[in-house]
Amino acid sequence: MLERIQKVIARAGIASRREAEKLISEGRVTLNGKVVEELGTKVDTDKDYIKVDGKLITRPEPKAYLILYKPRGYVTTTSDPEGRPTIMELLERVKGRVFPVGRLDYDTEGLILCTNDGDLTHRLQHPSHEVPKTYFAKVEGVPTPEEITKLRKGIKLEDGMTAPAKVKLVRKVDANSWLEITIHEGRNRQVKRMVEAIGHPIIKLKREGLAFLTLGDLKSGEFRHLTAEEIKKLKEI
Ligand code: URA
Repeated sequence: MLERIQKVIARAGIASRREAEKLISEGRVTLNGKVVEELGTKVDTDKDYIKVDGKLITRPEPKAYLILYKPRGYVTTTSDPEGRPTIMELLERVKGRVFPVGRLDYDTEGLILCTNDGDLTHRLQHPSHEVPKTYFAKVEGVPTPEEITKLRKGIKLEDGMTAPAKVKLVRKVDANSWLEITIHEGRNRQVKRMVEAIGHPIIKLKREGLAFLTLGDLKSGEFRHLTAEEIKKLKEI
């Protein structure tokens, strides 16, 4: 996030904003090694090094990127007014604070990406990037080929038509079935509403993949840090 440099100096407890402006005009403040000349200079405390009289006042937080296999029965927010368990409890061993990218419902399990990289979070959540998300959905009954085609082409929900999706009937279990559904949107309860709309309400929902990332060998409740290669690929999306 970009902020005015005098605000950052004031927050570091070194000077008031007015005094910080004076420090800047006296040439005592540097930004990544260069003397700051303009009062309104914008800085990003995630990346930039700011020094006053040669003393570092901010240290960019190291970036962390991980995927968590969220179990059912956890919320993906950082706190819950109803006191339900949050995924933060599963991430206590992570150094620094990471935040979920997007959300999964309380009763949905599966892959959730967590990071403190605000730029990446913003980009991945922007509708124009259309990151594919793959779900396994156990639904009541067995959808007909026509019903599956409806899901593929787009189906009318109360907030508009869904974009085309990839949908496959994977397996039948007694009278019910498992579908593999890949969507590019991230509307609230989207998969559940899609299968409900064709008359096959959800029984269980699991997110298996996000972009090129999959759960792999992760067990429910476990997380792993992404590799340098995976981080690079995510940033290229
Ligand atoms: N779609 C849903 O309905 N729920 C989720 O948690 C994710 C996608």
